[in-house]
Amino acid sequence: MSDFVSGFWSPYVTIATLAAIAFCLFLLIANSRKPPTTADNTTGHVWDGDLREANNPLPRWWVGLFVITIVFGLIYLWMYPGLGDRAGSLGWSTAGQHDAEARALTDQIAPVYAAFQAKPVASLVSDPQARAIGERLFLNNCAQCHGSDGRGAKGFPNLTDTDWLYGNGPEQIVQSIAKGRHGMMPPMAQAVGGAAEVEQLAQYVLSLSGGATDAVKAELGKSKFGACAACHGPTGQGNQALGAPNLSDTVWLHGGGLQSVVAIINNGKDNQMPAWERKLTEGQIHVLAAYVLGLSPPAERAAR
Ligand code: HEC
Ligand code: HEC
Repeated sequence: MSDFVSGFWSPYVTIATLAAIAFCLFLLIANSRKPPTTADNTTGHVWDGDLREANNPLPRWWVGLFVITIVFGLIYLWMYPGLGDRAGSLGWSTAGQHDAEARALTDQIAPVYAAFQAKPVASLVSDPQARAIGERLFLNNCAQCHGSDGRGAKGFPNLTDTDWLYGNGPEQIVQSIAKGRHGMMPPMAQAVGGAAEVEQLAQYVLSLSGGATDAVKAELGKSKFGACAACHGPTGQGNQALGAPNLSDTVWLHGGGLQSVVAIINNGKDNQMPAWERKLTEGQIHVLAAYVLGLSPPAERAAR
């Protein structure tokens, strides 16, 4: 009964349950006593002229079943949870049973993962069994954010391209999955100046990938990029240690138009990937890393 957020209802549930059983017992006893009868063993009710209600005791087999039911109920409530938040003498719980079954399953497939873990992540990329398992894990745990094909969405990185926030070495990918990632850019408008300066800087950022719509503003904005260089690098090439995106390519995590870039400079960005080390086993993360690595083009992997 851990669903109860407080113990408030526990006594009420306990009392109501026991009272219901006591009431059954009372009914049984009350109806086992034969009230005084007439000489012909009827209750005296006569209706429709000649129909009489006989006054026979309850059948024994029926009383027996009733008693057994009550005794069973009490023993059950003693052994299993049922009386408010009392755990029951066996200590059984649905959550406990679920955990035990999940553990049994994990133990059962442990040898499969042990075999995978003995091999480096990169060599599992071409292992069909590892890929099949990796795909299942990806669809169950990652697809809601990164898409079932891993192509991501606005704010959720595309895992199938050659652009990596944190790097695509096997260790970095394992790290991304196990520990999660937290990309943080502070609001920078104050460091840059007014709205006009922010727009010029945004034009400069866009010019790094040939996307500026106003060359003059872009040129004016160049001098303000100093405020950004600490994280994004002097040429905007990004920094994988910080998860600061490369601003000189055409891949945009948060949208590449002037408005999007201006908004990011003004408001900053706080983006998070949850950590999986407590939900997935080390073996599962190992196999998932291989699956993720296999999503991007092979040439890119070979270059690392
Ligand atoms: C709740 C949404 C969410 C889920 C679920 C999720 N991710 Fe992510 N993931 C993100 C976000 C957001 C980022 C980018 C974090 C940042 O901007 O710093 C990210 C980043 C990553 C990166 C780093 C990408 C890079 O360019 O360096 C990898 C690898 C990754 N996720 C893999 C996975 C895998 C594998 C799973 C499933 C176990 C998963 N993610 C589940 C949201 C999610
Ligand atoms: C403290 C480090 C830091 C500084 C300083 C910083 N950024 Fe960022 N920036 C980041 C990080 C980290 C992200 C990625 C956020 C995320 O994970 O989604 C980012 C994201 C961005 C993006 C979005 C990129 C995309 O692919 O959509 C733009 C544009 C950007 N920064 C521009 C700038 C500009 C211009 C400046 C200077 C005014 C600047 N940043 C200063 C860390 C920084």
